[in-house]
Amino acid sequence: MKALILAGGRGTRLRPLTHTSAKQLFPVANKPVLFYGIEAIRDAGITEIGVVIGDTGAEVRAALGDGTRFGVRITYLPQDAPLGLAHCVLIARDFLGDDDFVMYLGDNFLVGGIGELVGSFRAGDYTAQILLTPVDDPRSYGVAVLGRSGEIVGLEEKPEAPTSDLAIVGVYMFSPAIHEAVRAIAPSARGELEITDAIQWLLDAGHRVHSHLVTGYWKDTGQVQDMLECNRIVLESTTPRIDGTVDDRTEITGPVVIEAGAVVEDCVLRGPLIIGADSKIVRSYIGPFTSIGDSCTLEDAEIEYSIMFGCSTIRGVSRIEASLIGKDVEVTQAPRTPNTHQLVIGDQCTVRLRP
Ligand code: DAU
Repeated sequence: MKALILAGGRGTRLRPLTHTSAKQLFPVANKPVLFYGIEAIRDAGITEIGVVIGDTGAEVRAALGDGTRFGVRITYLPQDAPLGLAHCVLIARDFLGDDDFVMYLGDNFLVGGIGELVGSFRAGDYTAQILLTPVDDPRSYGVAVLGRSGEIVGLEEKPEAPTSDLAIVGVYMFSPAIHEAVRAIAPSARGELEITDAIQWLLDAGHRVHSHLVTGYWKDTGQVQDMLECNRIVLESTTPRIDGTVDDRTEITGPVVIEAGAVVEDCVLRGPLIIGADSKIVRSYIGPFTSIGDSCTLEDAEIEYSIMFGCSTIRGVSRIEASLIGKDVEVTQAPRTPNTHQLVIGDQCTVRLRP
């Protein structure tokens, strides 16, 4: 069995961060989202992984290399344009050959691994297996309608008026019959070859498609709130570890991870939280569910329930909450007079200021 990870696409809902970075490499507890997926695939015993890449391919290649560090073998599959999830299967045809495979969306985050799911697909006689989970607003997802005995009756991609609250999770299992399906379908109204349509094609052609209800935690990290929630979930099970330097004026409660080279002076840290390598945190408060990346500086700052990517500075500003702060960002105080906000903000940013 092989795996196909989709790490191309545009990431429009996470702009402006996705103008400069691949969304699949955004950090959750200081580790790229994509790494969790690769580890789950490897832990399920799959070591041959094809990774579909797009405009941000160079960054993805630099982060994953040939896969040795994860104990897997990675083949890169460049996609000229993000023409859809089923298009990714089309371009991966040679890599996949006639093997069964797991397709894993690189921005999806699934707690609990995929070992059992791979096992049940291998044991069953199905053409495809999909994972479903109930969501509050199914309009942003592919959805499945199930019949009385749990069989899949129909699938629809991002319906305006959903008739089911069961979203399709971004981890699929396929036998080689999917190749005929992705060749047979036409682009959707949004111009993409939808994997949802390809699976519907399989159903219409009489193939057996199995569905599994996901009981554990799952998130598509496509939006800011989702990133913050994933970060919270991962930090909740953090094992505390202090490899950096913390002075005796600092008060720590709850689990904290302080990486090597980080320096913390005269602070209040309320875990769970993580402070990345070589960061300097002085006279600051860091509250629960916060990830501070490597080489960040916080001075006279307060922050909680947030993610700072790395190499960024917050000085003299409180309190920042529910925020995503990218790389090489500076958030500082404006001079006392005039009493104004002074902003240098790139395109498609969101800034919410207290009046
Ligand atoms: O997250 C689950 C949802 O993922 C499913 O419920 C939907 O049925 C499915 O279509 C998909 O919807 P999204 O709109 O969230 O997909 P997105 O465009 O974010 O792409 C998912 C991943 O695949 C992401 O890592 C980018 C990558 N991708 C996407 C496209 C369209 C590619 O590599 N190439 C592409 O052409």
